[in-house]
Amino acid sequence: MTENTVMHSGSPAPAFDFDTPIERRGTGSIKWDVKEGELPMWVADMDFRTAPAVCEAAAKVAAHGIYGYTDVDDAWHEAYSAWWTARHGWPLSPDWLVFTTGVIPAVSTAVRRLTAPAEKVAVLTPVYNIFFNCIMNNGRVPYEVPLSCSRREGKLFYAIDFDALEEALADPQTSLLLFCNPHNPVGKIWDRETLAMVGALCEKHGVTVLSDEIHCDVARPGKAYVPFASVNEVNAKITVTCVAPTKAFNCAGMHTAAVVCADPVLRHRMRRALNTDEVGEPGAFAVPVAVAAFTEGGEWLDAMNEYVFANRAFAEAYIAERIPGLEAVPADATYLLWISVGAILGEGEDSAAFCRFLREKTGLWLSPGTQYRGDGAGFVRLNAACPRSRLEDGMDRLRRGAALWSART
Ligand SMILES: Cc1ncc(COP(=O)(O)O)c(C=O)c1O
Repeated sequence: MTENTVMHSGSPAPAFDFDTPIERRGTGSIKWDVKEGELPMWVADMDFRTAPAVCEAAAKVAAHGIYGYTDVDDAWHEAYSAWWTARHGWPLSPDWLVFTTGVIPAVSTAVRRLTAPAEKVAVLTPVYNIFFNCIMNNGRVPYEVPLSCSRREGKLFYAIDFDALEEALADPQTSLLLFCNPHNPVGKIWDRETLAMVGALCEKHGVTVLSDEIHCDVARPGKAYVPFASVNEVNAKITVTCVAPTKAFNCAGMHTAAVVCADPVLRHRMRRALNTDEVGEPGAFAVPVAVAAFTEGGEWLDAMNEYVFANRAFAEAYIAERIPGLEAVPADATYLLWISVGAILGEGEDSAAFCRFLREKTGLWLSPGTQYRGDGAGFVRLNAACPRSRLEDGMDRLRRGAALWSART
């Protein structure tokens, strides 16, 4: 047991075990489809078993043995509504929710339904790479607005460049902003004032907002994320919010998510579009696991966040003390570390070349920042949602790989 195993207060037994490595090879896991000896720390899923309540809900469905067509019931609407009201201070009405099989299916649907072919969709880069697929595979054009990265109190700090954002939104061809809150990959929780400013600019220029909030429940203990649409009536009116239990409760393979629209017209358009795109009906497991997560998963989630944020602190300190030239960006959300490698890159080199080298020499597989665009050519992304022993292995490989890279002649 490491010093960060989460305990019940006053009890000697750990409440949940995040320490014991679980074999994922041979389970069909995309992340773990790697060669013997390789260590994947790229795809955004966790190496932890999900909350006991979620496992039990899935086991109950499995044991029943009949997996017929399934409906979305009131318990599903109530579970989301109660969770966002209690956890995130957003009293969203159960009626505002529409089931969908995933956040990315909903993003693609929104791109198709809320914009016209060849129009522009604004994104704040570096950002989750699949956003670009959603835009370009549907014949729209990404309008990249780079986030600014500067130093604050000695640390790397990302912020929105509002002049650049307004220029993008003012383009008459721009009809949608894909916003990420908290922001993958930089791990930023946007504050209320920033969200209000983004909302006001979008409203001024007639741009609809899709706020992808899939990472919102993976947050530093004590730090609250602010739902984009909860900030004021303007934001509520112009926003399609996407949420899910899948990141925080590690159940992405269950294909279960929700779209939230306070505005009835926008909600109707999204409901029809999700339906005609055939991404509005749940598989047999999708509703029970979401209900279990949001009604019974709170204690597990708190313990998981404690463990992950202790992992983040360990990795950040390791990088600062033992890997010259690398620097982790401080973050209050996600289990993804965004690490600057610019100082060890030579002329014409980028993080994709460094990641290929790292994998070849050490077996460590990270996401190259190039795929997120913006300033990503100087960064890599590392998934720290794993047992501490695995993270230690990852840090050791990263240290060795960076040293070998820097020693090239
Ligand atoms: C910001 C963001 N949105 C969406 C997804 C994927 O969502 P889904 O699996 O529900 O399609 C991810 C997965 O990493 C993500 O990081």
